[in-house]
Order: sequence, then C-alpha cells, then structure tokens
Amino acid sequence: MTNAKFPPGPTTNLLWDKEANIRKDLLGHFHRTVRRFPSISRAMIGPYHYVNISEPAYIEHVFTHPDIYVKGRDNKTLRFLLGNGLVTSEGEFWLKQRRLIQPLFHKQRLQSFVQKINESTVTMLKNWETKTGVVIDMHTEMTNVTLDIVSQTLMSTEVVGDFKKISEALVVVMEGMMKILRLPVWIPTPGNLKMQKNRALLFDTIQKIIEDRRKNKTEFNDLLTMLMEVEDADTRERMTDEQLRDEVITIFLAGHETTANALSYTFFLLAQHAEIKQRVVDEVKQVVGDNEMSFENLSKLEYTTMVIKESMRLYPPVWGITRDASREDVIGGYRIKKGDSIAMSPYAVHRLEKYWENPLKFDPERFSPERMKNIHRYAWFPFGGGQRFCIGNNFAMMEMQIVIALACTQFNFTLTENFKLELEPLVTLRPKHGVMMKLERS
Ligand code: HEM
Repeated sequence: MTNAKFPPGPTTNLLWDKEANIRKDLLGHFHRTVRRFPSISRAMIGPYHYVNISEPAYIEHVFTHPDIYVKGRDNKTLRFLLGNGLVTSEGEFWLKQRRLIQPLFHKQRLQSFVQKINESTVTMLKNWETKTGVVIDMHTEMTNVTLDIVSQTLMSTEVVGDFKKISEALVVVMEGMMKILRLPVWIPTPGNLKMQKNRALLFDTIQKIIEDRRKNKTEFNDLLTMLMEVEDADTRERMTDEQLRDEVITIFLAGHETTANALSYTFFLLAQHAEIKQRVVDEVKQVVGDNEMSFENLSKLEYTTMVIKESMRLYPPVWGITRDASREDVIGGYRIKKGDSIAMSPYAVHRLEKYWENPLKFDPERFSPERMKNIHRYAWFPFGGGQRFCIGNNFAMMEMQIVIALACTQFNFTLTENFKLELEPLVTLRPKHGVMMKLERS
C-alpha cells in the first residue's frame, strides 16, 4: 500500500448534498467540481467513492493502463442490453474480438458505405422539402437518419418498427443506469419490465436476420457479411451466431444514438452562426461542386471537419466516461484505492479555460492544424482513448460530414423563437426537449 494521500474533495456524501445537486444538475456538478478542485478530486456518492479527473495527463494515465482501470459497475447494466459485445466485454475475449473487428472499421474499408450514407441522407432531404416553414425537431430527424444509415450499412435492411423500439429501449436502459441507487435489472420494476420486453424483441430480431443471412446466397455489401467472414488469424475460427448477435446489437446501438446527438448539436450551433454555416457551404461547393459526394472528397472537407470537432467539444455525445480501479495506484502523487470509480468528463474538460481559450465560444478554427499543436491529446476526447478508443470514429466522422455537407448546401436552419437547449446527461448527452427549428430551402 502507498503512503500517498487521497485526492482533495468535499467531505459530504454528494448524494444528499443539496449544494452539489447531483440528482438535478449532474453536468453542473461536474463543471463546478473541476473548477473547485483542478486536476483531481475524490468524493463519496452513496456507498461509492468517485475520483473525478480533469488533468489531461492523468486522463491519459487511466486510458493507457487498462490493466488497472477496467470497465466498472455501469458496464453490468449495459451488458444486459448489449450482451458480450465490444463495448461491454473485457480481457482476452474483448481483445480477440477487437482484433477481429478493427480492420472492418478502417477508413478504406468504410468507403464502400459512402453511397448508402448518401442515399439515406438524400431521402431525408427529399422529405424535408415537404417540411419547410413548419417546426421540426432536428433531434428526431437525426435519430431517424442515423438509424437508417446503421440499419443499411450493418444489415442492408430498412429501419423496421422493431428497430425503433430497440432504440427506445436504449433510452430506458440509459435512464436506469443514471440512477445511483438502482435496483438490479432482474427485479420487475416497470422500467426493467419494459427494458426486458424490448430486449427480447431486439435479440429475436437480430437472431432472425443472422439465420436468414446464413441461408441466403445473395452477396451483401454490409458489416454483417464482413463480421461473418472475419477469421481468427491463428485458429481460423469465425464468430458463432451468439457472438455475431452481440456485436451486431452493440454496433447498432453504439453507432446511431451518439452520432444523432452530435449532428443535432452541430445544426443547433450552425443555426446560430450564419457566417460559419456559409463557410461550410462554400467549402462543400468548392470541393464537391455538382458531383456526388465521394470518399475522396471527404478528406478535403477540412473546415466542415473542424466544425464537427468543435461541436463535439462543446457538446460531447458521451459526456462522461468511467472506469473502476482494480488495484491500488498513484496518480499525480495521489492515492487511488482499489474499487474507486474514476470519472472523466469530456463535457467538463472541454470547457476548461485552462486548456481552451474563451471556452464557451463556438470557434471551429481551434481545430486548425496550427492551433491543434498546442492542445494536449487528452484535452479533447469525445471518442475516449487508449485501447478502448471508439472503433466507429471514422464511420461517425464520415457519416457526419456527409449529412452536414448535403443538408447545409440545400437548407437554412432557424431555431424557433424562445428555444432553449436543455441538456439531459444520460449515458449520452441528449437534448431533453429536442432541437426545435424551422427549415428553409437555401
Ligand atoms: C459521434 C459519434 C460517436 C461518439 C461520440 C462515440 C463515443 C465513444 C466513446 C467515448 C467510446 C469509449 C467508451 C469507453 O471508453 O468507455 C466508444 C466506444 C465504442 N464505440 Fe463509439 N462513438 C460514436 C460513434 C460510434 C459509431 C458510429 C460506432 C459503430 C458504427 C461506434 C461503436 C463503438 C464501439 C463498438 C465501442 C466500443 C469499443 C471497445 O471498447 O473496444 N461508435 N464510442
């Protein structure tokens, strides 16, 4: 055991601390904590000890020591919904699966999906033609288009009703996970029962798609086919149906909700910054012209990419990432006890003056190559870090570039009068009452 002292922190139990107000204002609490205790702090929430880290070098330490910092309590609930897929699995099994699946998410492999992403986006934009002048919820629009994209690229299917229910089940699970003193998933609370029902539906639906695919001799260009074909380099083994099912469910759920949130916030910001939106339009027109969006064009959309990164700085779709310490450690001279939960919040760190000048300003130029040189690798971590870095980050960037580029060149966006963005920090950062705006043909 080390002689190091514990990190500083409040002495009250935050669950009952009125000032901390974590039940009603968790984001605000994180924001205040990283200001009051720069770098690192330790507090009790109910029966658990949480170490809140905001110093990029310490964040890097946690991400790059997976032997000490493992996925923790939250993972158990999530596993109920996602099975033993990439997000929730651990140890040797996770490593084997990650090695198998990683190559499928390589940029070059993804280029065959550009056309499918284009098609889903074009269909949405056609539908927008009928919606000009009326109030729409951009968050619903983005959820629908990202659901369609993931269904098409993963399984070559349209979004059927069941998938919508599955997406809703995810929200129920996320709400449940945010309860600090929650009941285990097997106890028949109304929330758990709904979750169990939707989960059964999800498992059956995906199982059936896999069974049908095994019988079907048609060639499909989708991730499911790729997942079915990948072989372990040593044993030449392929995934079992059960493994396939868990990975498909994981990619389906991890892949659409996060991206829908990121897109919604980007449109929210662009609606308030006409000059930035115009720069996006100018760039897209210059790079793409009258041609179809192609994979080669995407890397040339430099400003649009900066806009997306800046939007994810202010509104990171995954606003907090946790790990549990599996043994004693020392970070920055402070003691970390076995069993401590480590919380790292992209939302709080991305808004610290220490690392970001004028942090509340929407300023995509921060991500220009020259200015990026001065930013610590872990001062911006919307996709996490270390070996569990988001496997779908290239996919998400490609998807967001296409949706934003096409939508911005065809439409203008105005927030409805008096619209106020309210953030709901579940597992993902959701706009609580949507993003209400009017569309106009540009
Ligand atoms: C803007 C969109 C996205 C954001 C912000 C995001 C964020 C993240 C973060 C922060 C993690 C790490 C969680 C942790 O360390 O505990 C993660 C992991 C993961 N993401 Fe994403 N993600 C996005 C899109 C996607 C997409 C499109 C896919 C799939 C098509 C995907 C699939 C995954 C998977 C499978 C993991 C688990 C990786 C592993 O542990 O090996 N994500 N994501």
